[in-house]
Amino acid sequence: MTQPTFSTHLGMVDILPDETPKWQKLEQIIHEEARKFNFEEIRTPILEQTELIARGVGELTDIVTKEMFAFERGDDHYVLRPECTAPVVRAFVEHHLDQRGGSQKLYYIGPMFRAERPQKGRQRQFHQFGAEILGADDPIADVDMIALMMSIYNRIGISNTTLKINSVGDPESRKAYKNALKDYFRPKLDQLSDISQKRFENNPMRILDSKEEEDQPFIEDAPIITDFLNEATAAHYTEVKNHLDSLGISYEEDPHLVRGLDYYTRTAFELISPDLGAQDALGGGGRYDLLVEEVGGQPTPAVGFAAGMERLLIACEELDIELAEPKSVDIYIVTIGDNARKWALKHLPKLRNADISATMDYIGRSVKAQMKDADRENARYSIIVGDNELKKGKFTLRNMKESEEQALDFDAIIKKLSDQ
Ligand code: HAM
Repeated sequence: MTQPTFSTHLGMVDILPDETPKWQKLEQIIHEEARKFNFEEIRTPILEQTELIARGVGELTDIVTKEMFAFERGDDHYVLRPECTAPVVRAFVEHHLDQRGGSQKLYYIGPMFRAERPQKGRQRQFHQFGAEILGADDPIADVDMIALMMSIYNRIGISNTTLKINSVGDPESRKAYKNALKDYFRPKLDQLSDISQKRFENNPMRILDSKEEEDQPFIEDAPIITDFLNEATAAHYTEVKNHLDSLGISYEEDPHLVRGLDYYTRTAFELISPDLGAQDALGGGGRYDLLVEEVGGQPTPAVGFAAGMERLLIACEELDIELAEPKSVDIYIVTIGDNARKWALKHLPKLRNADISATMDYIGRSVKAQMKDADRENARYSIIVGDNELKKGKFTLRNMKESEEQALDFDAIIKKLSDQ
């Protein structure tokens, strides 16, 4: 009988042990930068109510119409979260986080799920880090949050990026703009792609996001939203730009930037990298001043961003940025015989308690094979332990790189390694 073979689902990727060190390093950098900006971590469940995502992200978005992993169990409708803004807003409302006072500055790291067609930089399970500020209307909040996003890329050394910004207006400005867009596209409707024709009625702004060749000439000459902003929204947008200028964060205005989620109001932005190919958005975000109300909370202005971690790591690869050191262990205990193995097992904790990483062979290999294994493990030091060494209480500590050896007792070995 043939054994079945198993593999991950399409677009779902194992992160193997050779890869995890750079993920850990990236996560560490995110935690450290978030702490400097005084953001607090929030962790929400992977599964949410389908209705929350449909309402939050928008019934007509690609995410909700085509890309949700959703299922039912009993009377409950579950969806694997495709993003984390709606879940964070749900948690904010459900747990009355506004009562903690002031604006809530939250961040998260974790897997998201979208049933998209996989390609480089696009997976069905992918990871985001993101941040949200709930309860702040001031353009300073928009810009401090963009500064947090940029600080993570800058620290890693990904500096060849373009920050694109736009204002997608408040409901009043958007109504006027949508009408103008419809008036503009209506006479050209039969020349637009099928997908844009579908968007025309309910969501004409999404036509601007079309990647279809035949739509491009029409998009180029389409009216731009910034001509339709009311006074307050225009002033907010100007202040965002002024604050970005004052921080020396360069940006490009892109009046056609609309983003693929429906909750945005006013500021919208994307961070683009030329090192990524077709899926060139490292991250994106903006204001969503109406979402908290939409999900049942009090009116609460809010702004946030999320960034793809796989894409960040692809950019690192393209730029030859090594995020993590190659794996290594401080000391490998090479054993000869059963007494030595028992001694090693008892002495490993003493090393580890002194913050020294330490390992030994579990499968009874020869001394030669253990030395080879120590090399493969990138051990900085090894000691060989046999009956002779145990009798004398002295061990030959070998510096693996420099091939130097020194005879020391066990306490001296701990001291030497912890001094380094
Ligand atoms: P988003 O633009 O849908 O925004 O996703 C943010 C980032 O997640 C993208 O720029 C990209 O780097 C990454 N990403 C999205 N889909 C995939 C995928 N299939 N494979 C790999 N990476 C992907 C949001 O999710 C909003 N929640 C951002 C936000 C937060 N707005 C306000 N607050």
